[in-house]
Formats: sequence, structure tokens, C-alpha cells
Amino acid sequence: MDKDASPPVLQVSDLRAGYGRIEALHGVSLRLGAGELVALVGANGAGKTTLLRTISGLLPARAGRVEFLGQDVTRAAPDQRVRRGLAQVLEGRQVFGPLSVEDNLRLGAFVHRDAAEERMRRMYRLFPVLEEKKDLPAGTLSGGQQQMLAMARALMSGPKVLLLDEPSMGLAPLLVREVFRVVRELKEQGIPILLVEQNARAALAIADRGYVLETGKVTLEGPARALQDDERVRSAYLGL
Ligand SMILES: Nc1ncnc2c1ncn2[C@@H]1O[C@H](COP(=O)(O)OP(=O)(O)OP(=O)(O)O)[C@@H](O)[C@H]1O
Ligand SMILES: [Mg+2]
Repeated sequence: MDKDASPPVLQVSDLRAGYGRIEALHGVSLRLGAGELVALVGANGAGKTTLLRTISGLLPARAGRVEFLGQDVTRAAPDQRVRRGLAQVLEGRQVFGPLSVEDNLRLGAFVHRDAAEERMRRMYRLFPVLEEKKDLPAGTLSGGQQQMLAMARALMSGPKVLLLDEPSMGLAPLLVREVFRVVRELKEQGIPILLVEQNARAALAIADRGYVLETGKVTLEGPARALQDDERVRSAYLGL
């Protein structure tokens, strides 16, 4: 039994996945509660992206279970998971370069077309720079702006859970802060978020809880504050 009273919005149990003969996840379990921001930290190649891709269904689970809002979605197709409210922002910036910023946002609303215009206004409030550039091809945006567009597009589906894979990767410090500002704001709006970040310090500073993933296994988990103070986390991930 889960020790928390409220059921988790996302529960991953003993998940195994891999590529060909390589197993990259060796039985990973984690949960995300209502309104929680959970950080997943780990070195290059630890399996963070593999875990998110398996949760969203882009990669099949070889064993274990993914439960979303109390339902088993382990075998559900990725678009079905999105329709139920599980949205992922992939590693790297997956925007449609030739399409305008606004058309990229519209594509994100495929689940709820009626709500698209209202959601778009909300996205422009959250990311003012996207409104300034709404008629330009997305490919002309800077890296940081494309990252914001990728996040905004995922939010257009009205997600009940957001999976973010390295949203600050490759961005200048000012834009890293901007991305973290948005993540905090989404948390304040009550959207549960699983945040994968190499920037462990910044991620743990805003997270409620965290998990450390090492070569396909969870080796540490706990309140973000406890992880920030943990000697192993400090030396391996915080450079202290
Ligand atoms: N398409 C693939 N084919 C074969 N092996 C892969 C593939 N993608 C990842 N791997 C391997 O699976 C393991 C986990 O990789 P993954 O990309 O999930 O790590 P990560 O924690 O996201 O790393 P990073 O911090 O570099 O993004 C690594 O050993 C990697 O080499
Ligand atoms: Mg990765």
C-alpha cells in the first residue's frame, strides 16, 4: 500500500525496457502524487529518457506496469495516453520548423479543438515571447524559444500530468531561469510534473521529491530537501 492517503496520479512499478538485446531499465518504480513536482536526476545514459519514453508509450514496457489516474495504461498507445492527459515534452526541441508558432500550438490542441483558442491565450500569457512571434516559422526561433514552444504545445492538450525531459538543456543561463520560472508556475497551477534534469541543483530546489537513477535503477529517493543534503547526491550531481 502507498503510504500517502491520496492515490498517485502516476504510478510506475518494476518497469523494464530497453533497446534490442540491451535492457536499459531494470525494474524502476516511482510515483507522482496530485500537484507534485518530482525531479528525476541521473548521469548521462542512466536511463532517464528511456523511462519517460516508456511511461508515455513511445517505447514498449518489457515488464512492469504504468498506471495513470488509477488505470493500467502499460499497453495503451501513446496517443491514447495523451488523450487521457499524459503529455510529454521530448528531449531536444521537437517543433515543426516550417509551420508558424501559432500553428504549432494548434497542433498541440488536437485532443480538445474547442478549447484551443482559450488555451492559446493562456499560453501567450505564460510565454509572452511566443505571442510576439506567433506568425513566424517555428524554425526561426532561438533554442530557448523553441523549448518554450515545445512546452506550450504540450500544455495545449490540457494535460493532467506533464513529463519534461531536460527542458533547460543547451540554454543560456537567462533562458534556463525562464524555463524554471515556467515549471514553477505550472506547479502552482497544480499540474503534476515529472522533471528530468541534468541541472540537479535547480531541479531539486523547486521539486517536492526526487529520485536518483543510476544505470537503469533507482538508487535513492526522498524529499527534495533530503536529497539536496545527501552526501552522495552532493558529490555526484551537485558538484559539491
Ligand atoms: N535508441 C537507442 N538504441 C540503443 N540504445 C539506446 C538508445 N537510446 C538509449 N540507449 C541506451 O540506453 C541507455 C539509457 O539511455 P537514455 O537515453 O535513457 O539515458 P539518459 O539518462 O536520458 O541520458 P542523457 O542524460 O544523456 O539524456 C544508455 O546506455 C543508452 O546508450
Ligand atoms: Mg536523456
